[in-house]
Amino acid sequence: MTRSQEHTATAPRPASPDAPRAAIAGATGYAGQELVRLLARHPHVTLTAAMSSGAGSPVRTLPALARIWDDPVTPLDLDRLGAEADVVFLALPETASAEVAPVLLGRGLRVIDLSGAFRLRADADRERWYPATKTLPEGVVYGLTERHRDAIRTGRLISCPGCYPTAALLALAPLAEAGLLTGAVAVDAKSGISGAGKTPSDRTHFSENHGSVAAYGLFSHRHGPEMEQELGMTVTFVPHLVPLDRGILETIYASVAPGVTDAQVAETLTRAYADAPFVRLTGAALPEIKHVAHTNFCDIGWKLDEPRGRLVLVACLDNLIKGAAGQAIQNLNIAFGFDERAGLL
Ligand SMILES: NC(=O)c1ccc[n+]([C@@H]2O[C@H](COP(=O)([O-])OP(=O)(O)OC[C@H]3O[C@@H](n4cnc5c(N)ncnc54)[C@H](OP(=O)(O)O)[C@@H]3O)[C@@H](O)[C@H]2O)c1
Repeated sequence: MTRSQEHTATAPRPASPDAPRAAIAGATGYAGQELVRLLARHPHVTLTAAMSSGAGSPVRTLPALARIWDDPVTPLDLDRLGAEADVVFLALPETASAEVAPVLLGRGLRVIDLSGAFRLRADADRERWYPATKTLPEGVVYGLTERHRDAIRTGRLISCPGCYPTAALLALAPLAEAGLLTGAVAVDAKSGISGAGKTPSDRTHFSENHGSVAAYGLFSHRHGPEMEQELGMTVTFVPHLVPLDRGILETIYASVAPGVTDAQVAETLTRAYADAPFVRLTGAALPEIKHVAHTNFCDIGWKLDEPRGRLVLVACLDNLIKGAAGQAIQNLNIAFGFDERAGLL
């Protein structure tokens, strides 16, 4: 008996023997650990394996997840995944995802990828931003849940959006689609440090980041072209690192066509998210990171200066949940026909 089985009172496991078997590659990372935490308690899937690079110690446990997932994290093993999983979550660097996903697809598994490897559709864009991904496998869908539910139902490789694009696109896409926006938009984004993953760098080192705020990646961040691909318009994207462990807040500047009213903006967003359990529209009560941290919600507020057509939206989410593991599980729920909220609310 494993330690996790001894503690079934605190770690409920799915009852159905027919539950799909899910596995995680990259389980020791920031996004991967959130996947372990959420999937171990998911009511409709069985978590069968958690794997990482195997560098350092070949078999590891996750101390923060004791009594939630006590089984070991083992080195990535594609044969084992093929035998023990129906669906694999990839929370890996994009170069590793680019290599692993086609192999798993070839073995008939469904893949939910959190990396950027398969997000950009144009070959030239991938060549520039994700050169390890030479071609897009068949069955790739862009996994911005609220916008692509139908495609996600049948997708074989669900490529989850980046954390910054998730917030920006949820705020902007319905307005762009409705033809309310004119000209370019600017996305001024602030992110907590976990967005950069667990390996510290000069920029993310505590003593560099603590007590400071810095812009980075001007015209050179991979999430810019992803936003432009999905919106079909120019986006000036300026990310900042702020001294928080998690959370993203985006202040988005746009212009609307003459005569567009605040009521039209409200109606367009309300209609777009009428059946979206994880998008909360806050209107003029602007959202904050504290309200979404540790949740799968994306909160969106806005204010329109009607006479001058200036629209400011504020969108907030937890980069590790709605921006990563939570959205990935929302996509699993849709792909396998479960309630979209399962394991997330
Ligand atoms: N952090 C976020 O907010 C966020 C949001 C959305 C999407 N994402 C994307 O999700 C992915 C994971 O991000 P993260 O922040 O969780 O990264 P992370 O903290 O750096 O974790 C990376 C994980 O991948 C494993 N790994 C690295 N190279 C590997 C290889 N060659 N083979 C097998 N496993 C390997 C690591 O294992 P070891 O521990 O053994 O090294 C670790 O488990 C990235 O593609 C990232 O862009 C992240």
